Amino acid sequence: MHGGGAMANAASTAPAYPSTTFSKSMNNTTTTASAARRPCHVRRRATSSRIRAATSSGRDDTNFNNLLWLPRRDVLAGLTLTGVTAFPGVAFADLPTIYEGCGRGESKVTDDLLGCDVINNLPCPPRKKVEVVNFADLPRPKNVRVRRPAHELTADEVARYKKALAKMKELSPSNPSSFAAQAAIHEAYCDGHYHIDPTEKNRKFDVHFSWIFAPWHRMYIYFYERMVNHYVDGKDAFALPYWSWDVPAGMAMPDMFKDATSPLYDQYRNPDHLDAVVDLDYHLGRKQLPPVTLEMKTSKPEFYEDAVDRNLGTMYHQMIRTGKGARCFLGDRFCTEANFNINEINKRSGRRLRKEVGELKGDASGSLERMAHTAVHVWAGRPGPPKDVKCTDPEAALGHDRELHCANDMGFLGSAARDPLFYSHHSNVDRLWHLWSTKLKGGKGFDEPEWLNTSFLFYDFVNDDDDTMRLVRVTVRDVLDTAKLGYTYSEPDKTTSGYKDWMDYKPTRRLSAPVTGTATTAAAAAKGGDAKGGEFSLELKVGETVVVPSVTRPARDESGMRPGVEVLVIDSIDFDPGSTTKFDVAINAPKESAEKVGPQYGEYAGSFASVQAAKEKPGDRRVVKLAIPIDDVLADLGVGAGVPVNVVIVPRAGDVKIGKAPKIEIQYC
Ligand code: C2O
Repeated sequence: MHGGGAMANAASTAPAYPSTTFSKSMNNTTTTASAARRPCHVRRRATSSRIRAATSSGRDDTNFNNLLWLPRRDVLAGLTLTGVTAFPGVAFADLPTIYEGCGRGESKVTDDLLGCDVINNLPCPPRKKVEVVNFADLPRPKNVRVRRPAHELTADEVARYKKALAKMKELSPSNPSSFAAQAAIHEAYCDGHYHIDPTEKNRKFDVHFSWIFAPWHRMYIYFYERMVNHYVDGKDAFALPYWSWDVPAGMAMPDMFKDATSPLYDQYRNPDHLDAVVDLDYHLGRKQLPPVTLEMKTSKPEFYEDAVDRNLGTMYHQMIRTGKGARCFLGDRFCTEANFNINEINKRSGRRLRKEVGELKGDASGSLERMAHTAVHVWAGRPGPPKDVKCTDPEAALGHDRELHCANDMGFLGSAARDPLFYSHHSNVDRLWHLWSTKLKGGKGFDEPEWLNTSFLFYDFVNDDDDTMRLVRVTVRDVLDTAKLGYTYSEPDKTTSGYKDWMDYKPTRRLSAPVTGTATTAAAAAKGGDAKGGEFSLELKVGETVVVPSVTRPARDESGMRPGVEVLVIDSIDFDPGSTTKFDVAINAPKESAEKVGPQYGEYAGSFASVQAAKEKPGDRRVVKLAIPIDDVLADLGVGAGVPVNVVIVPRAGDVKIGKAPKIEIQYC
């Protein structure tokens, strides 16, 4: 039972967006989205039969093993063309990959598979009968917009942006180009309002924690920039300024966002951080420490310099040390089966009941997402209501849980885009992706069609002369080259005093005495630590460092034909999405000093971190994994080939359990 009848019956219940009733045709470039409203379960049936016909994979949903089946050869056919050659030690070979748990079809995300649940009229984009066009069929933009650092903008440029934003803030939220509607797009895509249904399981959909993160956010701020362009005075194109928190001159909230009378201002930020040096390794455990203020640049230069250097260390780590290949930098394959809620998956499918949670191989965010990006969100947001003030502002109610989140805009995914700072923050994230692909020769990403064909719909103006809007279908393939989107980045001025480049910030400090030669053993490195391990599942507690002793390492291929990289994998990180989380991972750090570890230390391997988000029901949890290339760490520590290492986990914030012991594998990143 699918088609018009079901839709008509469902018309009075939960609407779906975009409610595309056109038949899917590769050649049709212009279709019409109808205003029909239907619930997700109706969409689901129609969709799944389409998928079955399209893939004819003969998949049997009752067979658990089939879901885990992904032929090695299919995977490799995609990988061999990826072109990630700039990082030494990364090569193309017949290697296991980190996403084999994700079943066929599980990674497919196209706009016709998504439906949006409206809750209290929010936050799905307005549904109107509008034209849908494919981005690829549109003429290339005439102007090249040059995105520049926010702190280098002239007063005139800031004034133009302010004026346009003031207009957007006055528009009704039902107008897709209003600031409110633009902000709601982010909420819709990360708060479980969108559901995806390629496998009849109707999962909540989230653009974070997978390889969708970078391209989706590129699309989102691109269309936001288009909206501002429509309202900006003058004929010069508006280019979204970026908050260059990766260079010393940009390591504070840019002034243009701090004037409380400006439309660029947002009141729900951390008041202690308005005049502080940003902390790119920030976590809520740090909020007890007084922030390093900008004023310390002159009064306590050693504090200031240390804060800057730590940030540059984080950047080096995110871009170079763990940016080895698309999978580690941009994130792992999107996996609907594992996405979101383990309790729900267990209950609904019954498949996992015999298995422990640790069997799930789900999404993993890349270093671009889970490091500086996440820290800046948490750092900028207000961590809670001011002392003695009860959080009662109804504006703070958000998302599925309809809870008050104490008006913490940047630090809560559902509300983050209500702060204009968000778009400049993401402009910088986007610039770092662009730098990684071009200057660092990281390449274009993945060649897998499931990534390239991922598509979303965004509103855009038909032309500059009137307010007619349409929906544009944009695919990941469309956004890999910023030139095709008509913009580029100009780099921050490197001649300003105090300029330092994160490329030069390979970690030099050590928590343990440097080891010479290659004969080190895990036991020697662990000296003094009462090693604890093999007790997974394990609940992390802030202040209790966990040492997993003698984790074995796979043999390297000494012929050099199949080098791959050594990747530390922590499967089944089971966390409360309603908490802001972070833990750090180090190799061979002595237990007694492990608390100090961070990106400036050679022992530091990486971090897992997440920004707080809404839950649908109390008790909801989310399962993801962490995969960090550790070749550089091992080389810096002088650990010989195949010698086991201690994996040290330092909990920092949030409610996190780890389902299975960390392991080290040779992988193609
Ligand atoms: Cu969609 Cu910075 O998050």
